[in-house]
Amino acid sequence: MSTSNRPTLAAIETLLRNGYWDRTEIIRMADASLRVRKQSKGHESSGPWGQDNLRDEATYLQELEPHLVDLFPRLIASWDQPAPGYDMAYMTNHVDVAQLVRSQTFNQQQSNQFQTHLGKRVFGQLHTPCQRLASLAENVVATLQQATQTLNDHDQLQCLTTPSMVINGQFCRDLATNTASLIQQKTLIHGLDQAPQVRLHGDLFLENILLPATSEHPHWPTQLVLIDPVSVAGMSAGHPLFDLAKYESYASGELPAMRRGHMLVESIHSTHAEFSFAIDWQHSEMQPFKAIDWHSALRQSYISHHGPIDPAMYALLEAYFAAAMILCTTGAEQHARALKAIFSLQIAWSLVGQ
Ligand SMILES: Nc1ncnc2c1ncn2[C@@H]1O[C@H](COP(=O)(O)OP(=O)(O)O)[C@@H](O)[C@H]1O
Ligand SMILES: [Mg+2]
Repeated sequence: MSTSNRPTLAAIETLLRNGYWDRTEIIRMADASLRVRKQSKGHESSGPWGQDNLRDEATYLQELEPHLVDLFPRLIASWDQPAPGYDMAYMTNHVDVAQLVRSQTFNQQQSNQFQTHLGKRVFGQLHTPCQRLASLAENVVATLQQATQTLNDHDQLQCLTTPSMVINGQFCRDLATNTASLIQQKTLIHGLDQAPQVRLHGDLFLENILLPATSEHPHWPTQLVLIDPVSVAGMSAGHPLFDLAKYESYASGELPAMRRGHMLVESIHSTHAEFSFAIDWQHSEMQPFKAIDWHSALRQSYISHHGPIDPAMYALLEAYFAAAMILCTTGAEQHARALKAIFSLQIAWSLVGQ
């Protein structure tokens, strides 16, 4: 049910997440029932996106077909004033899969079962043909250009705007040059807006997938519930590779390493501008991602549903995700994201360029 007025709560029970753009809380209603409320921070929100996302998330949940309703928490209410927000069912005794990864609760077989089931539901059921409202190609170009500008204006990261550099042993042209070349080349970037176009989750990664906290159910790894659909840039339809690339960026360990400062980033002093970045696999927090493979089975499932992966498009999406985060992070994370964006865009160009 959707309303235009925000339902009155009796009490805030727990703050679940104070995100970049919105706040998620468990709330108690006057009748003592619990819900999860997600509200936009309105003017407090940082970065170039976010204002309208919660409206889009609520619409997304409202429009799910009957066979997909169990894949997300039930939408209870949504509103636009004083700022967009919505209430959904509270998934009691559920935790996000990122927490289960860290507690090393899963064995490889359970992880594979989880990934295969996720693939079946996302690639097999959620990814139905869909008319996109926003152009991913335009969004990718705008984001790469904004990231370039951020690097130009940044005292410490300006060194990454030099026309040529070496990153992880790979010769790389700067972000501006490769973006311009890819705009001219057209095929790769426009491929993002061409068939197949499907409904995406949009922010498919382990923190946005819930499972029951305990493993009593015989098919525990398949009891998954997705939350937080629609990407930060408002994408909820587009090329299916978007969801796989996003999932793998986290499940491979790279995104958590970048967020938590577990990347080894170096500037090597030589005649060239030379840099390197790598996951610090020695760090104890990275062990769970080393011990269990959290991504290969989902990739297999993707291929069986959508066919072979275009490596240039994959690298372009990796560059895009990294560039988007250059715009909303600072310090070591921003530095690592910048190296990743430049490196991945070079890979994309080298696979399609002359
Ligand atoms: N319906 C729900 N039931 C239980 N926990 C939830 C629910 N929705 C969100 N959460 C918890 O709150 C966290 C943040 O919610 P999410 O929608 O992902 O917000 P954000 O957009 O800030 O990432 C999730 O990682 C999850 O742990
Ligand atoms: Mg989330």
